Amino acid sequence: MRLLNRVIDLRRAPMQRNLRLRYRVAMNVRNYLDKQGFIDIETPMLTRSTPEGARDYLVPSRVHPGEFFALPQSPQLFKQLLMVAGFDRYYQITKCFRDEDLRADRQPEFTQIDTETSFLNENEIMDITEGMARHIFKDVLDVELSEFPRMTYNDAMFYYGSDKPDLRVSLKFTELTDLMKTEEFKVFRAAADMPNGRVVALRVPGGAKLSRKDIDAYTQFVGIYGAKGLAYIKVNDKSKISNDENSGLQSPIVKFLSVNALNEIMARTGADNGDLIFFGADKAKVVNEAIGALRIKIGHEHGLQDGYFVKEWRPLWVVDFPMFEYDEDDDRWTACHHPFTSPKPGHEDLMESDPANCLARAYDMVLNGWEIGGGSIRIHRADVQEKVFAALKISPAEQQNKFGFLLDNLKFGAPPHGGLAFGLDRLVTLMAGADSIRDVIAFPKTQRAQCLLTNAPNAVDDKQLKELNLRLRQKAEQPSA
Ligand code: AMO
Ligand code: AMP
Repeated sequence: MRLLNRVIDLRRAPMQRNLRLRYRVAMNVRNYLDKQGFIDIETPMLTRSTPEGARDYLVPSRVHPGEFFALPQSPQLFKQLLMVAGFDRYYQITKCFRDEDLRADRQPEFTQIDTETSFLNENEIMDITEGMARHIFKDVLDVELSEFPRMTYNDAMFYYGSDKPDLRVSLKFTELTDLMKTEEFKVFRAAADMPNGRVVALRVPGGAKLSRKDIDAYTQFVGIYGAKGLAYIKVNDKSKISNDENSGLQSPIVKFLSVNALNEIMARTGADNGDLIFFGADKAKVVNEAIGALRIKIGHEHGLQDGYFVKEWRPLWVVDFPMFEYDEDDDRWTACHHPFTSPKPGHEDLMESDPANCLARAYDMVLNGWEIGGGSIRIHRADVQEKVFAALKISPAEQQNKFGFLLDNLKFGAPPHGGLAFGLDRLVTLMAGADSIRDVIAFPKTQRAQCLLTNAPNAVDDKQLKELNLRLRQKAEQPSA
């Protein structure tokens, strides 16, 4: 209803405030980057595909029958070419287009604060962009952000099950996979023995007061992420640890665990009387997502009262991302950031021999559990770029066809370069205290990628299709009145 009547909706005070806030953020960005010697250079909207991992929006060419432009998923390759062309500090506040599943923090067209620099390393780039974030927060919200901690991707996954941890919640995972390899309890043992399995505990201070109903609701919640259950132990009296059901540990699972394991769980989690310990056991991906989401949900629901949630800004950098991730559906390695990201020095050979352990010079800026920016040091040598394409199973012919313009220009003497892009919509959403990025965009799309105000996308008449040399395979169904 709000999107259908957007003009009226925009008259409301909160929407007026949000869009004015957005403008002030953009002005701040321009002032800050201008002072740092960056210049704004526009890049094309009608271009060819830039692989950022989503589907392209295509635009048919009338002049070249049967051929298509792609709207940019990001200005990535153009900004790299600008570095080769000698513009060593570029920025742009620009639209990007990605046809992907939409969520509260995703729109099919969204805005990036896009930057690129030559001759700077990752620390220097992170310092400049962190300085920008601090400048914006101070100027727009009068908030002094402290220095951003840097956390490796591995630590983020190990302690929080997420590469964008919400550090306002202080709860951390406790690793139990090793311990459960010698236990009889089937649910835990099977997960511990799986090649990609993981067993973790999540200690919730004061959680013993949660009711059966609360726990059932959390069990249902983790089910959304594929968890098959949610085992727990209530710590009523830690001086009475035994696997007797009437001991100090109240739980449906203590009878299946050895006393040694129970003691070890208590020691590793540091649990106290009145606490509750949740358990996740499954493939690591399921455990990370399910217990990671549970950590945030419980943190928000009970943490303020019980002292494990703070209402503050908690930014951080996540660094040392892997180069590749395995796509099980497609049975192949894909780029974790994008295929133009440089491997860490010394990791070049791992691209072929051990792709899972090859690290990238990539970094994300995370704020309160949202990825608000991401970037990397790029590959500036054609031979290394060709190796990465090969690791991604892109054949030499396909490399030349899709990325020949990049490879050729890298051969003209490319400076070492790197950069980062902020999601402007996400940044402003957080700063505005809004729930969805739709609340900081004047005319956003729905969850189903439609503009209700103008009723786009819409069918076009045959004459237009004919001019574009297009014929529909099937007449699209007319929506009923
Ligand atoms: P990446 O794909 O990580 O990197 O995008 C950068 C930032 O853009 C935001 N973002 C989105 N915001 C709203 N809706 C979306 N659909 C959406 N997708 C991404 C996020 C993200 O952190 N070219 C690289 C950047 C670089 O390497 O310099 C890139 O586009 O906040
Ligand atoms: P079951 O043996 O299926 O009755 O499960 C015993 C306890 O373990 C119940 O509290 C379940 O909620 C819990 N549980 C079952 N599967 C898992 C799992 N994969 N991870 C965590 N807990 C689980």
